[in-house]
Amino acid sequence: MRTPLIAGNWKMNKTIGEAQALIEELRSLLPANESVEIAVCPPYVALTAAKAALAGSSIKLGAQNAHPEPKGAFTGEVSVTMLAGLVDYVIIGHSERRQLFGESDVFVNAKVRAALAVGLNPILCIGETLAENEAGQTEAVLERQLRDDLVNVSAESAARVTIAYEPIWAIGTGRAATAADAQQRIAFIRAQLRQKYGAVADSIRIQYGGSVTPANAEEILSQPDIDGALVGGASLKAADFAAIVRAALK
Ligand code: PGA
Repeated sequence: MRTPLIAGNWKMNKTIGEAQALIEELRSLLPANESVEIAVCPPYVALTAAKAALAGSSIKLGAQNAHPEPKGAFTGEVSVTMLAGLVDYVIIGHSERRQLFGESDVFVNAKVRAALAVGLNPILCIGETLAENEAGQTEAVLERQLRDDLVNVSAESAARVTIAYEPIWAIGTGRAATAADAQQRIAFIRAQLRQKYGAVADSIRIQYGGSVTPANAEEILSQPDIDGALVGGASLKAADFAAIVRAALK
């Protein structure tokens, strides 16, 4: 009943021309299908060209961040309002935003609510650091992030949120969580969502992210609670990203 979402987080990679070329390659490699949703999230400057390159394709477009205010004196920022109509998805609260740019749960929550209000579908990233993991605090961290990041988000709106469970120690390290561990954490997240939202929790997509590759995708994506992946490094190569999508189709 949940359609998996394979989303590519390109991070700060690809010029406009490179983004167009990657999308062309993806369009030739990715089979049109109904059972897996696919999205690419290029940098802001490439979004317009990416949208044009995706015309007539079922591949969706996402942004990597957004400011919750509709407009104003926020030099260098791009608002949810500006993204509405241009993209379908927006990644919110990625650990790089939280760690490198000091984003708090309060700010992340404001972004989630603002994105929902303008019709964007947030991909809300949560996950523990290595230190928190080793100290046995993973569940406490996930519980806190879910509570604080979803303040004043109704069950109806929550159904439009995709959660990405991304253990920070797995991002860009080549050391993914095991499929069993990822399944366990994501089942925990779903249980938390069930407490807050009841049966709606069963329709909320929860992805895994962190060093997903063609080699580990099939095992990770075959877990019952894992509804797709947020893919960083491997989304920059069309063949790898296509292989991950194919793994989701199995
Ligand atoms: P990675 O990044 O696939 O390169 O580990 C995942 C992410 O940051 O979303």
